[in-house]
Amino acid sequence: MTTETITIFDTTLRDGEQSPGCSMNTAEKLDVAKALVELGVDVIEAGFPIASPGDFEAVQTIAREFGDRTTICGLARCRKDDVDRAWESLKDAEQKRIHVFLATSAIHREHKLKMDKKQIVERAVEMVARAADYCSNIEFSPEDAARTELDFLCEVVEKTIAAGATTVNIPDTVGYAVPAHFRHVIEYLKQNVSNIDDAVISCHCHNDLGLAVANSLAAIEAGARQVECTINGLGERAGNAALEEMVMALKVRQDAFGFTTNINTQKLFPTSRLVSGITGMHVQRNKAIVGQNAFAHEAGIHQHGMLQDSSTYEIMRPQDVGYVGTKLVLGKHSGRHAFRERIGELSYELDDETFQRVFDDFIDLADKKKEIYDSDIVALIENRTDEAAGRWKLVSCHATAGPGTVPTGTVELETDDGVIHCDAAIGGGPIEAVLHALERVIGITATLEDLQIRSVSRGKDALGEVSVEVLIDGRTYRGHGVSVDIIEGSARAYLKALNKAEADSRLAATKASSNPTEK
Ligand code: KIV
Ligand code: ZN
Repeated sequence: MTTETITIFDTTLRDGEQSPGCSMNTAEKLDVAKALVELGVDVIEAGFPIASPGDFEAVQTIAREFGDRTTICGLARCRKDDVDRAWESLKDAEQKRIHVFLATSAIHREHKLKMDKKQIVERAVEMVARAADYCSNIEFSPEDAARTELDFLCEVVEKTIAAGATTVNIPDTVGYAVPAHFRHVIEYLKQNVSNIDDAVISCHCHNDLGLAVANSLAAIEAGARQVECTINGLGERAGNAALEEMVMALKVRQDAFGFTTNINTQKLFPTSRLVSGITGMHVQRNKAIVGQNAFAHEAGIHQHGMLQDSSTYEIMRPQDVGYVGTKLVLGKHSGRHAFRERIGELSYELDDETFQRVFDDFIDLADKKKEIYDSDIVALIENRTDEAAGRWKLVSCHATAGPGTVPTGTVELETDDGVIHCDAAIGGGPIEAVLHALERVIGITATLEDLQIRSVSRGKDALGEVSVEVLIDGRTYRGHGVSVDIIEGSARAYLKALNKAEADSRLAATKASSNPTEK
C-alpha cells in the first residue's frame, strides 16, 4: 500500500511577510523562494500581487524563475481587479494557482464587509468562476471559517467547488480554534458537502493560542490533505503553523498519522536560518526543531542516557533536520581541505572567492577563539555571502571611547573599482560614531530602528552576531554582521543595510532614466 502525501503549501512570502517588520525586497524573496524549492514544498504562495507594484514584481519573478519546479500561487480578494492582477503575475509559470478569499463569519460579514450571506455566496462564486476561466488550479478560502456557522460554511464550500475551486482552504484566521473543534469542522464539511471529493481540503491555522500545529494535525486526521504553513511559524500576529513542526510531526509520528510529505527535512535548519537572517526575526533558542537548544542535553542524567544510546532522549536525529549545533568541529590547525569538507557537510556551496574570504575569517577567528563550532562557521559563511552583493566593502573600522573623551569612529571602505574611501565621525558612543562615519562615506542618512547583539556560540570569546533594522526614505532595511568585536559586527550589519538601500536607489534612478515619462 502506498502512503498518501500531504501537500505542503508554504505562505512565508505572503502571510509570513505580512507580519510586522518582516517585509522583504524582491531579491530577498527570490532567495527564500529558491530555498523553498530546494526544501521541496509543493506550493509557494509568493505574494498578494494587487497589494503593490513590488508585490506584483516579486510574484511574477518567482513565477517565471521557479514555476517549472513547483506550483506558484498568488492571493486575490474577491474583486475583479485582484483576480486579473493575480493571473497577470502568474501566467508565465508552468504550474500556477490563483488563491481567492472572502470572509464568511457573521462578525466579518456584519462589521467588515457589510454583506449578507446571499451576497457573500454570489461574490465568492463569481470570483472563483472568473479565476477558473484563467487557470485550472484554483483555491478558495472562506476567511474566518473557524468562526463561521457550519451550515453556511458548507453552502459556500459546495458552491465554490461547483464554480471551479480545486482546493478549499479552511482558515482559522484569528487562531480561535482548539483541536477537537477544528477536527469537527473538517469532519462536518466531509459529511455535509455533496461535492467535497471534487476538491482537496486544506487548513490554514494561526497561532494565537499556540495551537496552530495541533489544530492542523487534527484537520489532517479529519480529512485535510493540504496544510498551509510558514518557515519558523512567521505570520500575522502570533504567526501561522510552523512548517518545520508540521513536517517533523508527520515524519516522526508516521505511525500515528500515516502520511508522508515531499520535504527534504535536512534542509529545514538551513532554510530556517536563511529566513531568520533575511527577515531579522530571530528564532527562540528553545523553538521546536530549529531552535539552537532543540538538540542540547544539559541534565547529567540525560547526557548519561545519550552516551549509552541517543534514542533514550532523542526522538529524531539532529542531522535529520540539518541541525547545526555547537559541536566542536575544527581548530587552528585544520587545513583548507578539512574546512571545505565541513562547509559541504553543512550544505553550503561557495565560489572560490567567497570560500577564500570565509577561510581567511576562520583562520583569523581561530587565532582569537579557542574553540570553533559549526554555528561559528555558519555565521562566518552568512557574513560573507550576503556581503558579496554590496558595492561597499568594509576594509577597517576603529573607534575610541571612554570617560572624558568624545566617542569617535573612523572607517575605510573599498568600492568595486578598488578605490578606498575613508571618513570619521563622532557619536554618543563608539558604535554610533562608527555608524555615522559609514553614513558620511556612502552619503546616506538612516534612522536606526533596532540593533540587537547575540552570541553565536558559547564562551566569553564567542562571535557576536549583530542585527540591525534601519529606516531609509520610509523603507525598512536589515543587515547582519558577525565578529568577535561588536563594533566591527555592528559596522558590517549597518553597511549591509546601507548597501541594500543604495542598490535600491541606483535601481530606481536607472528605471527613471530609461523611462523619463514614468512617475
Ligand atoms: O488567515 C487567513 O484567513 C488568511 C487567508 C487569506 C487564507 O491568511
Ligand atoms: Zn492567514
